[in-house]
Amino acid sequence: MSEPAIYRQLADLAKAAAEKAYAPYSNYFVGAAVLTEDGQIFTGCNIENRVFGGSICAERTAMIKAVSEGHRAFQAIAVYCKNGEGWPCGVCRQFISEFGPSTVVIVESAGGNLIFHPISDLLPEIPATVRV
Ligand code: THU
Repeated sequence: MSEPAIYRQLADLAKAAAEKAYAPYSNYFVGAAVLTEDGQIFTGCNIENRVFGGSICAERTAMIKAVSEGHRAFQAIAVYCKNGEGWPCGVCRQFISEFGPSTVVIVESAGGNLIFHPISDLLPEIPATVRV
């Protein structure tokens, strides 16, 4: 499937967001950009903390910004790792799937093309989403 233009835009915004990453412990710099059902985009980066467990991934930063502004339905989320192609961790897959099985996860490959899969492919056999 060819890359929808909006996926490229999200990937570029995720890449820009990775520049804001606060990752002094891992030196693993990640950005994300999530597209809401109604076409708004929220970006995020990973933010680490000296207390183990206090860190948050870029995907959840972006999702939390969106959800806390009233959005609960998402078309797609792009992720960019400065250190090379990287896919969402298990917790982020769970977090994304909470809001629907069809959200598309987009990652830029080392070669620069986009790879994308619905979250239901990355976290299969999930129970039906409950949205309140
Ligand atoms: N990280 C993300 O932000 N997203 C991912 O999908 C994988 C991991 C962050 C968490 C931590 O700050 C660093 O990358 C190393 O795991």
